[in-house]
Amino acid sequence: MVKVITYGTYDMLHYGHIRLLDRAKALGDYLIVGVTSDDYDKSRGKINNQQSLMERIAAIKETGIADEIIVEEYEGQKIDDIRRLNVDIFTVGSDWAGCFDYLNEFCRVVYLPRTEGVSSSEVRAEKRKLKIGLVGTAVFLTKFIKESKYVNGVEIVGVYAPHPGDGPKVPDLLYTDNYDELRDNVDAFYIISKPEKHYGHTKKALMAGKHVLCESPVAYTKEQCKELYALAAAKNLILMDAIKTAYSTAYERLLLMAKGGKIGKVVSVDAVCTSLRDGISIEGTDLSKKWNSMCGWAPAALLPVFQIFGTDYRNKVFYTKFQNKDENIDAFTKIDFVYPSGVASVKVAKGAKAEGELIIAGTKGYIYVPAPWWKTDYFEVRYENPEENKRFFYQLDGEGIRYEIVAFAKAVESGRNMSYVSEVISEAICDVIDEFNNRKNMIEID
Ligand code: CTP
Repeated sequence: MVKVITYGTYDMLHYGHIRLLDRAKALGDYLIVGVTSDDYDKSRGKINNQQSLMERIAAIKETGIADEIIVEEYEGQKIDDIRRLNVDIFTVGSDWAGCFDYLNEFCRVVYLPRTEGVSSSEVRAEKRKLKIGLVGTAVFLTKFIKESKYVNGVEIVGVYAPHPGDGPKVPDLLYTDNYDELRDNVDAFYIISKPEKHYGHTKKALMAGKHVLCESPVAYTKEQCKELYALAAAKNLILMDAIKTAYSTAYERLLLMAKGGKIGKVVSVDAVCTSLRDGISIEGTDLSKKWNSMCGWAPAALLPVFQIFGTDYRNKVFYTKFQNKDENIDAFTKIDFVYPSGVASVKVAKGAKAEGELIIAGTKGYIYVPAPWWKTDYFEVRYENPEENKRFFYQLDGEGIRYEIVAFAKAVESGRNMSYVSEVISEAICDVIDEFNNRKNMIEID
């Protein structure tokens, strides 16, 4: 029996795929089809698949051409499969000509002519694009625009910039002070205005029937945040809190490990996020245009605390050094939390510098994420006996922003909220900001 193997993503199965599978099968008696896992595709930079692994497998099954379907999960798996499954022929389309010649050592390699005029990318591109308008001019906006280009199916239409002189300008992008005009041309808004305006801008967008991705904090109080989520739900709209760290694969995995008992029972979470780059401590800086340390950093720093311990803490205390109290600009804030079964601390600063690491301590070991942990692709699980330590690496492209945009676009398309930041956490973040703004449980330092 001649065994043939072929691999692919097979997103939105088209006739180019089916022709390939038919010809692959005809090369022998038994066809094995390797379908790439979602994670493997992500690590290869293929983030745009419209269908999940299970859906892609189901579509191939339905053709009845494959005798066996396997999942391709890692680089180098092809050699393992060929050996393990006693494969005689490896085949793929001619778009890969030459790329797999190294497999000749293990079996025969055949490149089949690719079918002209069809590809998953084209099928995906035919779908209507999600048109997004931007509100605000913070520097971060340029990263968002750059990252959106990697996401098939979304288009940035323009930026609502009431004060055109503010912030950096992205060439070839429409900047307008006419909100209504932009609103009429978009399906969704990404809100990156000053934090005190998030609530107003988000509400306005939702009232106009637009989906919203809003930088955290979504509002200045828990009640306002709740109101926005309720409004979105009532209007069947998506509202997502934009914390890019939540979309980093390494971060997701370390969270699962912490919650899954890999380091025993978690007793403390310590997260540090600082940067001096934004210049709040530079003489003459216009502080009215700046985000304070709390709004700039606390949502990211609070994320692991709330995702691990939940939001029902017993007590919290702020220790704050103000840069300018009237403008509500803190140079440095430390927040200590006490939970029934553990403690947590976050340190955020735009006017002070510290090592930006995340440490999750448990009764059996700890998870260490080096700086800058909020854009992490790497972490270590460490134990008393260093021989048991393990290191983990997961590809992270675009600091998580492009995965966040993919999740937003998919949520809008499917009508299901796919945010990695739950509503409860979003509200708890707003609550912390509210208490900070009201100087509740705050000890000021000079
Ligand atoms: N293939 C083909 N003819 C096409 C498209 C794909 O023969 N028109 C083959 C590829 O060469 C590969 C297999 O089908 O052997 C799976 O390809 P895959 O990368 O999943 O499909 P594409 O349509 O090329 O996807 P994309 O546009 O995302 O790259």
